[in-house]
Amino acid sequence: MLAEDEGDDLLLKYVNEFWWFPHMWNHMQPHLFHNESVLAEQMILNKEFALKHGIPTDMGYAVAPHHSGVYPVHVQLYEAWKKVWGITVTSTEEYPHLKPARYRHGFIHSGIMVLPRQTCGLFTHTIFYKEYPGGPRELDKSIRGGELFLTVLLNPISIFMTHLSNYGNDRLGLYTFVNLANFVHCWTNLKLQTLPPVQLAHKYFELFPEQKEPLWQNPCDDKRHKDIWSKEKTCDRLPKFLVVGPQKTGTTALYLFLIMHPAITSNFPNPKTFEEVQFFNGNAYHKGIDWYMNFFPIPSNVTTDFLFEKSANYLHSEDAPNRAAALLPKVKIITILINPSDRAYSWYQHQRAHEDPAAQRYSFYEVITAGRRATPELRALHNRCLVPGWYAAHIERWLTYYPASQLHIIDGHKLRTDPAVVMDGVQKFLGVSQYYNYSQALMFDPQKGFWCQLLDGGKTKCLGKSKGRKYPAMDVESRTFLSRYYKDHNIELSKLFYRLGLPLPAWLREELQKVMR
Ligand code: A3P
Repeated sequence: MLAEDEGDDLLLKYVNEFWWFPHMWNHMQPHLFHNESVLAEQMILNKEFALKHGIPTDMGYAVAPHHSGVYPVHVQLYEAWKKVWGITVTSTEEYPHLKPARYRHGFIHSGIMVLPRQTCGLFTHTIFYKEYPGGPRELDKSIRGGELFLTVLLNPISIFMTHLSNYGNDRLGLYTFVNLANFVHCWTNLKLQTLPPVQLAHKYFELFPEQKEPLWQNPCDDKRHKDIWSKEKTCDRLPKFLVVGPQKTGTTALYLFLIMHPAITSNFPNPKTFEEVQFFNGNAYHKGIDWYMNFFPIPSNVTTDFLFEKSANYLHSEDAPNRAAALLPKVKIITILINPSDRAYSWYQHQRAHEDPAAQRYSFYEVITAGRRATPELRALHNRCLVPGWYAAHIERWLTYYPASQLHIIDGHKLRTDPAVVMDGVQKFLGVSQYYNYSQALMFDPQKGFWCQLLDGGKTKCLGKSKGRKYPAMDVESRTFLSRYYKDHNIELSKLFYRLGLPLPAWLREELQKVMR
């Protein structure tokens, strides 16, 4: 709430009421346009009309007919709006849901600030005072201490929209808001103010900076949202499970084994991020769900097909669990754990092989022991190397958003030595209807030193050179240091396993014994 020091307890409220700005020809719903340029053409028609008739076109604000296209986001609308009208502000009642109104939020997408809009009770069909639904007393009640009054009272910024028809006929738009302002002045010490849309939007996000970041939901989980979601888009192009990492635990091997299964399909590769989509953990999230869904094929059978994606950076991401749960509440989560000390060492070797200058400059021991006084470059490497190994903390974060029944923890050492058994466990966890016999499909390749896919004719297809690298064993000092470093994390992990009723992996038992000695 915005409080200003203009006298004791004087509260300043912003109440803005905009009439519907006709950015679209004929009240058309933008989500019905799949083609952005066709949408833009319609807007241009409208703009030409507006210019010809002296209607202002530089407000920077628009709302969409029938709530369409703003949320769930129809990217085509955002792009056309920007190109044709230079729109930077819009509003919606739909984010995250219509009700309860007090939970409506704002967000910023693709440079357009989306503000939460309130409901004022005036619609295209409420044009005569006497014919107001439930009788005119209902409207007066809402103004005089009822819902409309409470909306202004409880929201520091209230945005309303009425239709042009409410400026003609009985002019209920003017009637309502003049009376509302009078009532507020009479009975409260609130000071009402209005601001032009763009300034108001800046004010809004100054007050609520945490709302800038959107949280995308599944448009098909809400009937209102589904109705304004393009028919050419489908919610079936979403994964049923996620392999969340962490890096260097065998995620690529698991990925390879998974895609061998006839009912399991992965995302299309993202060339920018080493094939992984990396949607929930980084800036790609701001591209929106259309961008994400485009990485998935349309399943031929929604019930039996299992789409998935593997992004090995999800596990330790602060943002990923919350974001994933908002969009994919039913998704299953798979994580692979190996001894975090081995993981850190494998990661360091990986960085060196990829010619990371810092990893080449500093020894492993220097990286893991880097203290607060180390250079920012070394500190950054230190954190990237060790933080993903704080397994318990990361898993707990996922468990605040997902029930334990949706989480499957794979012992990465077992995946390496006995993949068929691990894959049987995965199939059971996922509930795939078609059983795939991995003991016949995988073969140990002595040359590679790892399990590989068995091809027709007895040959094997193994992972490339970058997986299962040859490098010297970790030195004793580093191992001792890391066992101590991870001690508390490993203890927490063992408690977590206990709580989840899972047996401790052998590496964890060994680590606990080592530090208990
Ligand atoms: P190293 O290369 O350090 O041995 P990720 O795919 O998550 O980056 O993990 C890579 C690690 O997977 C490799 O680390 C390797 O030990 C492990 N791994 C497990 N099973 C494997 C397999 N069948 N083929 C190759 N690497 C495998």
